[in-house]
Amino acid sequence: MALFAVAASFAASAQEKTIQLMAPELGGEQPLRIACEMRQTYRDFIAGDVREEHLSTLLWMACGENRPDVHKRTTPTARNAQEIELYVFMKKGVYLYRPEKHILSLVLGGDHRKEVSQQEFFGKAPVVVVLVANFDKMKDFDTASRDFYSAVDCGYVSQDIYLFCASSDLYGTVACGSINREAISKLLKLNNAKPMLAHPVGRVQR
Ligand SMILES: Cc1cc2nc3c(=O)[nH]c(=O)nc-3n(C[C@H](O)[C@H](O)[C@H](O)COP(=O)(O)O)c2cc1C
Repeated sequence: MALFAVAASFAASAQEKTIQLMAPELGGEQPLRIACEMRQTYRDFIAGDVREEHLSTLLWMACGENRPDVHKRTTPTARNAQEIELYVFMKKGVYLYRPEKHILSLVLGGDHRKEVSQQEFFGKAPVVVVLVANFDKMKDFDTASRDFYSAVDCGYVSQDIYLFCASSDLYGTVACGSINREAISKLLKLNNAKPMLAHPVGRVQR
């Protein structure tokens, strides 16, 4: 795709500081209506990684820019606050997705997937995407509106992660609200931001 023609390769060695993601694969394997039919929660992850080009597409569908000229995204946010940020937990480290460059920036080295939640499948999924609401981007919202709209905005992102998986034939996911919010905030040194949901993503048997 022309938007990301410069994106060379994912080719990430251990704890690479910046990962330039490949261009997202558009024109997916399933039409949207079939993906909606296939959407369901999976918790039984089987062996196998999330392929680099698929991680790229997943992140782009969740929070990527589909109108880079105006920095607007695949998922809507109230008043275009764009407060939902994606932290990607993998074996080699935790990365922040930067939609404007379609890159991952290293936040923290090492495998911290199991610290996200007590639920046992967090150790099995190769990728755990944590959706964080960055309240610094919602300074003109009162507290009640901020809490309401950040939760709503998070839902759109979560659904796109489900739809990526449903359209892929390979992957499954589960939206998880039962997560260790304090531990995640401490780990990521979050300030004025809230971990909202986590999505373990991995291969599943259909
Ligand atoms: C906001 C939200 C939070 C959820 N939290 C969890 C969770 O912590 N653990 C879990 O196993 N499933 C969780 N789920 C998944 C639901 O249990 C699941 O969506 C529901 O049972 C319906 O199944 P389906 O997604 O296959 O339609 C959550 C779903 C949503 C939407």
